[in-house]
Order: sequence, then structure tokens, then C-alpha cells
Amino acid sequence: MTPAELDLRQYAVLGLVQQAGFMALDYFNKSESLGVTMKGAQDWLTVADGAVEDFLRQRLAVMFPQDAIIGEEGGGEASDAVWIIDPIDGTSNFARGDRNWCISIGFLLNGVPEIGILSAPALGEIYVGRKGRGATLNGEAIKVSGQTDIKRAYVELGWSTRIPAERYVAMIGRGYAAGASVKRGGSGALGLAHVANGRTEAYAELHINAWDVAAGVVIAAEAGAFVSDFFSGDGIARGNPILCCTPGLRHELEQITQIGGRQAND
Ligand code: IPD
Repeated sequence: MTPAELDLRQYAVLGLVQQAGFMALDYFNKSESLGVTMKGAQDWLTVADGAVEDFLRQRLAVMFPQDAIIGEEGGGEASDAVWIIDPIDGTSNFARGDRNWCISIGFLLNGVPEIGILSAPALGEIYVGRKGRGATLNGEAIKVSGQTDIKRAYVELGWSTRIPAERYVAMIGRGYAAGASVKRGGSGALGLAHVANGRTEAYAELHINAWDVAAGVVIAAEAGAFVSDFFSGDGIARGNPILCCTPGLRHELEQITQIGGRQAND
């Protein structure tokens, strides 16, 4: 695929995600029409998840019929050129009226994340990352904090019921013992974006799915973050652990999280 073909995808899908953002925001603002159900314990679903994913799938299929699509709600198979969609990341926040949620879409070419776009319309924020071309928030270049002192670090540790609570609690304990301030924001995709713009120093999760991180890994890496190689092995189909941090804290955070591995996007 040529750089011009990647440009076309980046700009076309940025427009699509902005439209999808208006759609999702409309659902968010009319909470009575959210149709909240549960996929499992602490695993939320709203009608907006399906509607936003359907909208993106239909438009992508028309614009780039040769590209594969994987979505959190509708599934799909990978191919050399694949879009990976999370229609609403942070659905538990979305369903409760908390603004920390986003639409996430990433494009991988031959297994390499090339384009990442995140729209957080309730926050008025759009993040874009393009491999080799940097990362932006609302059009302005962003970079990681550069912090090197764990005792000044703000670290987000993601959680889901896919991992035993004891392992998660032990990781939090190691973080506090090292002197970090620990938080959880409920959107893994935005967690990565917040490392990219320096609001936090790290995002880590012991297991996360590809749709949660496909956009954020490009945005964070292009902003100068260390990002563990999430897409190694069977990451697209089964998920993987992820560690994303400002580079000066990588060693300490590998010990706190017990997540290692080489840098993604190498
Ligand atoms: C979840 C969020 C959460 C993360 C979970 C994800 P969803 O995605 O990103 O922050 O910790 O691993 O499953 O269900 O809101 O799309």
C-alpha cells in the first residue's frame, strides 16, 4: 500500500469517526434511549455500541471494500489490511453518564499498526496517530510527559473480569509500594491517549482486547511512549497484556506490572 493510499484512509476515516461521534453523543445525551444490557459481569452494552459499529462497518465497506473489518460487537477476521473498531470504549462510563469514553479505530497493515483515530466527543477531543508521522490531539502535536521519577508518576491500571482480581490487586499494591499514584479511568483506549499527551505516565492492563488498543498504540508510540508489542502472537484474535509508558519509567513499570516484551511499532 502506498503512502497516498494510507493518507486517503486516514483522512476519510477521520471524517467517518467525527460523524460517528455525533451519533454516539446523541445517544449519550438521551440516556433514556441507551437500552443498557449486560454481556456479563461488569461488561456493559448499549444500543449505541451496535449502532456506531454498524455505521462504521457500512461506510468502510463502501469506501475500502478490499479491507477487512473486526469490531468488538460484530467480530470479524484479520487480513493483510484490517480495521479494528471499538464503537464505544468505556461503555460502563457511557452507560452511567461519565464523559470518559471514546470511539476507537485502528488500521493495521501486515500486522503493523499504521493509523489510529480516537474520538471522545463528550470531551471535545480527537486523537490521531500515524506511524512515522506523529500524534495529535485536536490537530496539535502531543508527546509523553518525560517523567523519570516513579514517585511523581500517575499510573492507570486497567481492569476487567477476564483476570483474577488477586493479580490486579497485587499489581496495584506494587505500584503504590514503588511510590506511584494509581488510578483507573474505565477506557483503555483513552488510557493510552492520556499517556500520549502526558496526562498520565503509564497505562497497563494484564489482558485487553485488540479493539481497545488498536488506535491507542499508534497514538502513544508516535507521541514517544514505550508500547509493549501487543500484536505479537495471537493478539488480534485473543488479546494480550499491554504496557504503555513514558520511556524513562519503563524498567520500573515492567517490574510493577510484570508485563515485558519488546517495543511495538519497531
Ligand atoms: C473495556 C475498557 C476498560 C478495560 C477493559 C475493556 P469496553 O472496554 O477499555 O477500560 O479495562 O479491558 O474491556 O467494554 O468499555 O469497550
